[in-house]
Amino acid sequence: MDARQLESAMHEALQAAEAASSAEVLEAVRIRYLGRKGLLPGVMKDLKALAPADRAEVGRLANTFKTALADALAARRTALAAPRESGTFDTTLPGQWPRPGLAHPISRVIEDAVAVFARMGFTVAEGPDIETAWHNFEALNTPAHHPSLDAQDTFWLDNGRVLRTQTSPVQVRVMESRQPPVRIVTPGRCYRRDTTDATHSANFHQIEGLYVDTDVSLADLKGTLAFFAHAMMGPSVSVRFRPHFFPFTEPSVECDFSCHVCGGAGCRVCKQSGWIEIAGAGMVDPRVFEKVGYDPERFTGFAFGMGVERIAMIRYGIPDIRLLYENDMRFLAQFG
Ligand code: PHE
Repeated sequence: MDARQLESAMHEALQAAEAASSAEVLEAVRIRYLGRKGLLPGVMKDLKALAPADRAEVGRLANTFKTALADALAARRTALAAPRESGTFDTTLPGQWPRPGLAHPISRVIEDAVAVFARMGFTVAEGPDIETAWHNFEALNTPAHHPSLDAQDTFWLDNGRVLRTQTSPVQVRVMESRQPPVRIVTPGRCYRRDTTDATHSANFHQIEGLYVDTDVSLADLKGTLAFFAHAMMGPSVSVRFRPHFFPFTEPSVECDFSCHVCGGAGCRVCKQSGWIEIAGAGMVDPRVFEKVGYDPERFTGFAFGMGVERIAMIRYGIPDIRLLYENDMRFLAQFG
């Protein structure tokens, strides 16, 4: 090997040492050049075959090569061993924060609604998702021929129980277990054989309310729902009541909020009507009181049931109910 070849081998060796990505790679570089059968010992051995002038030059170069490479290997070894040198750590990079959890819009509506009703003295009661036909239908004065008992509308289980179609059976359970005064709200899941589309889901949520005492009137119901509307949607929302029918309330009403998008003028959200249906409600039917063992001559009460998804959709401008169930973080992360 002549001086020029040795010089270029030295450049290659130094570069390889500096670029070594691990201790193993570094050791391989060392063995290749300095090892017993490596390049440099070979060069030394061959020195005596060279002409004296060349021998001196190549010998000097080989020594320089050896020292320089030993230094480079040592430097790289130290660099690889150090965990991370401050020079290679970019302190301007943003830190890695665990993403904080946040409540699902359905949970948020439930929490906020419960907080509003708590201000009016309501407490939370809960019941099972798998109900008896008694609690879901019979005690609620819903006769066996009523269409809501149809297999088309209700998930019946083999044991005769049902996936509750409404939160109203919790009213029955509470009244069966204690005497008035009763003032409860009951958020929970409900199930109906609905084909899923933009506004229907076979699994949805309701919040039921029940207030029973002496001298409870329809005016109390109206005041309670109006207070709720303003607390949830803002003071400019109007509330209206329309006559309706439910088997377990008499009289029955349906409660609408004025459309918060157009203010009542008519738009796509309210289907041009200016109003959005929020709750079914009414005065508890005396026949329900009889079934649960309350004295209908002594007590009066109101009940209401509202759709949680409906409120979430109008409150947050969600166009499709399915978005609430897909668990897509791109959607859910907007509610932080
Ligand atoms: N349970 C009724 C429904 O699901 C709503 C309702 C509740 C009506 C309480 C009156 C009283 O449609």
